[in-house]
Amino acid sequence: MRTLVTGGAGFIGTHLVERLLKEGNEVICVDNFTLGKRENVDKFLDNKKYKFYEIDINDNETFCEKLKNEKIDIIYHLAANSDIQKGGKNPEVDYEDTFMTTRGVLELMRRNNIKNLFFSSTSAIYGDESDKMLSEDLGGLLPISYYGGAKFASENFISSYSYMNDFNTMIFRFPNVIGPNLTHGVIFDFAKKLKNNPKELEILGDGTQTKPYIYVLDLIDCIMFMTKQIDKGVHIYNVGVESATSVTKIADIVCEELGYKNVKYNYTGGNVGWKGDVPKFQYDLTKIHNAGWTANYTSDEAVRETVKVLKK
Ligand SMILES: NC(=O)c1ccc[n+]([C@@H]2O[C@H](COP(=O)([O-])OP(=O)(O)OC[C@H]3O[C@@H](n4cnc5c(N)ncnc54)[C@H](O)[C@@H]3O)[C@@H](O)[C@H]2O)c1
Repeated sequence: MRTLVTGGAGFIGTHLVERLLKEGNEVICVDNFTLGKRENVDKFLDNKKYKFYEIDINDNETFCEKLKNEKIDIIYHLAANSDIQKGGKNPEVDYEDTFMTTRGVLELMRRNNIKNLFFSSTSAIYGDESDKMLSEDLGGLLPISYYGGAKFASENFISSYSYMNDFNTMIFRFPNVIGPNLTHGVIFDFAKKLKNNPKELEILGDGTQTKPYIYVLDLIDCIMFMTKQIDKGVHIYNVGVESATSVTKIADIVCEELGYKNVKYNYTGGNVGWKGDVPKFQYDLTKIHNAGWTANYTSDEAVRETVKVLKK
């Protein structure tokens, strides 16, 4: 297959590019390095099946023009803002890099008659529904972060473009994704903070926030497995693990695995880490399990494995 990975220089994108190439696919990668790293591109440049374009997708005319002669069977659209702090301070960030990148990709598909799309959505589209089991058909969704709003708007635009242009679309709503080469998120932050001060650790919220963490290689397995099932229309899947891990438990695992002892935890208080965060959520995973995929790692195992890899 000839594939296009947007955001292919990022954390999840690099793992996906690696697997697509390993399985014999051609990969065109697009990234503008707002958050992606050049080394994630450089390591594939010797591979004849890999091609890289440094483009800001929001410069949509350039994006469509540069790719107009590329034959593409499927787009894996991962480009988005993943810097929660930056996005929380300025709504423009998620409007541009989370929503408008999606609109840009859809326009490329429409103009170039590309039919297959995989979209990386998020649990953030559900808003704060801590008491509910989140299933894909839950209605009346009210996202509470700019990021969640931009992803939900993306899902809606994808739905309309898919209908109007006969796309085959798969939307995956990821929870927290962790694993080798992690560049952001709570584990990454804790490891960084402890390196600076091994005696004390600031923990955002009261530490009881409890969420599922999926190991990135499990997620990539799932994407590859489900790509074979892509079909006409829009198909939405929660992808995750049934277990969940609290923030304090993550701190314990990080300290344990990295060898920090008697660390004093300083909680900033409140049941969320930042405005737009949710205290907990739980996915209904029946649909993805029935499709034939289940994660190998539990949430705690994913956290521990990630810290072990970070340590190396
Ligand atoms: N990591 C998670 O826990 C998680 C959870 C749920 C959903 N997701 C989604 O998965 C996808 C990948 O996440 P990630 O963790 O790898 O993030 P990441 O930041 O590592 O990767 C995103 C990439 O998109 C690129 N990008 C951003 N704006 C762009 C633009 N205008 N033009 C071209 N490239 C642009 C960035 O440079 C970066 O390389 C994102 O869509 C994210 O929202 C991630």
